[in-house]
Amino acid sequence: MPLPVILDCDPGTDDAFAILLALASPELDVLAITVAGGNVGLEHTLRNARALTALAGSNVPVYAGADRPLLGAFVSETGVHGEDGLGGIILPDGKPPAPGLAADVVRRMLRDSAEPVTLIGIGPATNLALALTTEPALTKHVAQIVLMSGAWAEGNATPAAEFNAWSDPEALAILLACGRPVVFATLELTAQALVTPALIAAWRALGAGRCLQAACDIQSAVPPSRRLGGAGAPLHDPCAIAWLIQPGLFTTRTCSARVDLGPGPGRGRTLIDRWNRTGDALNAMVLETLDAPGFFDLLGHRLALLP
Ligand code: RIB
Ligand code: CA
Repeated sequence: MPLPVILDCDPGTDDAFAILLALASPELDVLAITVAGGNVGLEHTLRNARALTALAGSNVPVYAGADRPLLGAFVSETGVHGEDGLGGIILPDGKPPAPGLAADVVRRMLRDSAEPVTLIGIGPATNLALALTTEPALTKHVAQIVLMSGAWAEGNATPAAEFNAWSDPEALAILLACGRPVVFATLELTAQALVTPALIAAWRALGAGRCLQAACDIQSAVPPSRRLGGAGAPLHDPCAIAWLIQPGLFTTRTCSARVDLGPGPGRGRTLIDRWNRTGDALNAMVLETLDAPGFFDLLGHRLALLP
């Protein structure tokens, strides 16, 4: 039976791949796509999510959510994703957003679901945190929380912090304390999913569908990562989706994780204790290694199935 999931995102070039992969995969029953401000402002991330869903010919409802973190100011990442969030690639507009606020929709869907729902977070975790912190009893309806978030070493938003964790560290802390298992696709995992121009060319050859071609156009607009040597750009968010579709692509480690909520230079840093030095409760699992060829193959062939 397909796994019921809610996908919370901030599209975002890599979110675009994640949304299309989720919509192309029969292993998942995407109940809703909820959107937050993150890579770019909510007005753009919401439009992008609606456009991508329409491009895939999907009727999955898209809901607007938080346009800023729980505390502090909103900060975007247009340097990677462009001003519009999809690298300047303009897609036809999609259907209007479904009525309702993301956090309310997450609560309603958790309450009404016949089976536990997997929450996938690939942007700032504000919407998911708002849903669970205002109705904690709903966590019994959460199967697991799968996040692209954090790092056990160097950050990408600051030297200490990964962008999603840094954008709303209080939201991440709420998820880590909610009592349900949190699976992390960290920067160290996604660094193994380094997309090069040659790989994009190989994907393009898999099909002529508008989704695959648009995804390749979008990824081609992403600047190579200086942090990772300049040969390509890491494809972060689809890693969280691929974990649910083909977990055999990954090795994992159960550990404890917490997030720095201080005001200093370490704010948003995820303290992932892979060697259990703290003895803290094992509240997380990190995806440590990725079969990158297998991942890229899954991604290309699944997107080639879309219109
Ligand atoms: O640090 C990478 C993460 O931040 C990805 O989810 C990217 O889309 C941005 O949201
Ligand atoms: Ca994202």
